[in-house]
Amino acid sequence: MDYQPNKIAYVTGASSGIGEALVSKLLEEGYYVIGLSRSTISLERNFEHHAIDLSNIDAVQKFEFKHSAPHVLLVNNAGCIGDIKPIGKNTNSGLLAVSNLNALAPQLLINTFLNTYLNKVEEGHILNISSGAGKYPIDSWAPYCASKASLDIFSKTVQEELNTRSYTNWFVHAIAPGVVDTPMQNEIRSSDPNEFKVLQKFIDLKKNGELSDPNSVAQKLYRVIESPQDFHNVVISVRDFS
Ligand SMILES: NC(=O)c1ccc[n+]([C@@H]2O[C@H](COP(=O)([O-])OP(=O)(O)OC[C@H]3O[C@@H](n4cnc5c(N)ncnc54)[C@H](OP(=O)(O)O)[C@@H]3O)[C@@H](O)[C@H]2O)c1
Repeated sequence: MDYQPNKIAYVTGASSGIGEALVSKLLEEGYYVIGLSRSTISLERNFEHHAIDLSNIDAVQKFEFKHSAPHVLLVNNAGCIGDIKPIGKNTNSGLLAVSNLNALAPQLLINTFLNTYLNKVEEGHILNISSGAGKYPIDSWAPYCASKASLDIFSKTVQEELNTRSYTNWFVHAIAPGVVDTPMQNEIRSSDPNEFKVLQKFIDLKKNGELSDPNSVAQKLYRVIESPQDFHNVVISVRDFS
């Protein structure tokens, strides 16, 4: 980093979909951004990439937040849907990968993030990209649903801990982005119809142009980033605000 920015953001899953769109928005808004994902990306200014497999818990435990600024943001966005099959047909290694990436890696990163910054910088925000799938069951998505439900309650608990200890400039949100036109949705639509009983619904959403564009979702996520104090509920959905 060749200058001292006022605000920095760590964004996981920066290489694709919602994460990629959010990185562009944050750069536009003057953030210095550190993107984390397996595939390397390079952007011209105010961006650096850290290659990491976030389902590898040893690697996540060793990750260090090395940059500092008066305002720090962590966006836990990386996620995967996992094997779209009913429980009993999943592999145990597949279950572990979903749980590690979607639920455990965010917990570890949040722990390290707060340990690094809480008493050292003026304000901080943790934005976890959750899903409606964490609020109700969806056929053949049990590990994914469970991982997002875990992210929601973890977020609520951490915010309560911060409130109880009067960290008034620290915010945590778990936000469901709606159904967004990203490679994850391609993967969902190419799943086995014999294993996924609601496949047609996802095919129809795409066919009927009902998927959100990642850039418009990034704009909405930015509203929460810009004014976290205005979003009093920890668990929210982009559908809650237009
Ligand atoms: N799209 C939707 O409709 C939708 C709806 C609700 C919630 N969400 C949530 O939104 C978030 C972003 O999803 P998306 O739709 O933008 O998906 P996406 O386009 O498939 O992007 C997923 C991102 O996560 C990264 N990632 C995946 N596995 C990883 C690993 N093991 N280690 C490090 N990074 C990894 C990918 O990068 P690499 O492959 O380069 O590692 C990629 O940057 C996810 O948490 C998802 O659950 C999406």
